[in-house]
Amino acid sequence: MRAYVLDRYGGADGSRLTDVAAPVPGNGDIRVNVRAAGLNPVDFKFRQGKLRVIHRPKLPFVLGNELAGEVVAVGSDVRRFRVGDRVFARVAKDRGGAFAEQACVDQVYAALMPPDLDFAAAAAVPLAGLTALQALRDELRVGPGQKVFISGGAGGVGTFAIQIAKWLGAHVTTTASSRGEALVRSLGADEVVDYTSQDISAVKDRFDAGFDLIGGNTLDQMFDIMKPDTKIVSVAALPEPQTAIKDLDGRYGLAALFWIISTKIRSRAHRAKVSYRYLFMHPSGAELAALGELIEQAKLKVVIDRTFPFEKIVEALAYVESGRAKGKVVVTMS
Ligand SMILES: NC(=O)c1ccc[n+]([C@@H]2O[C@H](COP(=O)([O-])OP(=O)(O)OC[C@H]3O[C@@H](n4cnc5c(N)ncnc54)[C@H](OP(=O)(O)O)[C@@H]3O)[C@@H](O)[C@H]2O)c1
Repeated sequence: MRAYVLDRYGGADGSRLTDVAAPVPGNGDIRVNVRAAGLNPVDFKFRQGKLRVIHRPKLPFVLGNELAGEVVAVGSDVRRFRVGDRVFARVAKDRGGAFAEQACVDQVYAALMPPDLDFAAAAAVPLAGLTALQALRDELRVGPGQKVFISGGAGGVGTFAIQIAKWLGAHVTTTASSRGEALVRSLGADEVVDYTSQDISAVKDRFDAGFDLIGGNTLDQMFDIMKPDTKIVSVAALPEPQTAIKDLDGRYGLAALFWIISTKIRSRAHRAKVSYRYLFMHPSGAELAALGELIEQAKLKVVIDRTFPFEKIVEALAYVESGRAKGKVVVTMS
C-alpha cells in the first residue's frame, strides 16, 4: 500500500511517499481502508523531531494522526464495529499511520461517521475537534454566559473552538486577521480582534476563560485581559508539569523537565492570578461520537480550507506549515 513514511527527522526530504506492507490488526483493532486523512501542525512538528522528547517511535514510521474510511477487517475482540462501517478516528499518538491507504486503529479511538458527512469532512474532525472539546468543556468548564477569549480562531482548532464555545453558551471573542474575520464571524464569534493591527492587552473586556492556540507573545498578552482566579489553557505554548501527569500517563521525569521550561509562563500566570495549563489532547472514540452527534444536529460545521490528493501530501503539509490555513487541510485517497 502507499504510505507517507518518516525515515529521518528534519525537513521534508527525510520523508517519502512509498510502498509498504499493509498493517496487521491486533485483537482490539479495526483495519480501515483510509479514504481521507486530516493534516495538523503536529505532523510537520513530528517530522522535524520536535516531539521526540515525548514519543520516540522506531523509524521508518508511517506519519498521520487522523483519518476517515471504511472498516475492512476487525480483530477478534472487536465488538463495536463491523466490516463495511464508515468510521473516523484520531489514532494512537505513538502509532500514527493515518497517511496510508490502510491503517489499523484501536477500536476505542474510532467512532461511526455522521451519515451525511463525506470522508474528507469526517477526516478533518478528530484531532482539532477533540482538542477544542477537551479544552473548553473539560479543562475550562465553559458554561452559559461566560466570556471566553480564543486566540487564533481561523485555523483548524479555532474553527471548532468558536462553535463549541458558542454551543456551551459562551460569549466568544477571538483573534483573526482580515483574511479570517468573515469566517470566524460566520461560525458565531461575537467579537473579533485583528491581531495584525490591535494589541490584545488593549482589549477592554475581561474574560472568564482563555483558550490559546498561538503561544508566545499572544499568550503573554492574554494574561492581561483575564479576570482574577480564572484559567488559560494553551495547546501552543510550553507544557507544564500537569501536562506530564495528566496527559502523558504520569511521567514524572517529564514533569520535572516541563516544570523548568514553563517557569517563565507560570510566574507570568501567578502575577496575573490566572492558572495556566498546557493540554495535550487525547484520542477518544466516545468523545468523537459526541462531536459526530453535534455535526448531525447541525450544531457543528466542518470548515475545510483545501483538499489535496494523497500523492500531493508534501505540498499539503507545506501549506499547513505556512500557518495560513482557514479551517482544516485534508488529503484524499482514491
Ligand atoms: N497540544 C495539543 O494537543 C494540540 C492539538 C491541536 C493543535 N495544537 C497546536 O495548536 C496550534 C493551532 O493549531 P491549528 O491546527 O489551529 O493551526 P492552523 O490551522 O495551522 O492555524 C492557522 C491559522 O492561524 C492563524 N494565525 C496565525 N498566526 C496568528 C496569530 N498570531 N494570531 C491569530 N491567528 C493567527 C492564521 O490566520 P491568518 O492567516 O489570518 O494569520 C491561520 O488561519 C498549533 O501550534 C498546533 O500544533 C496542539
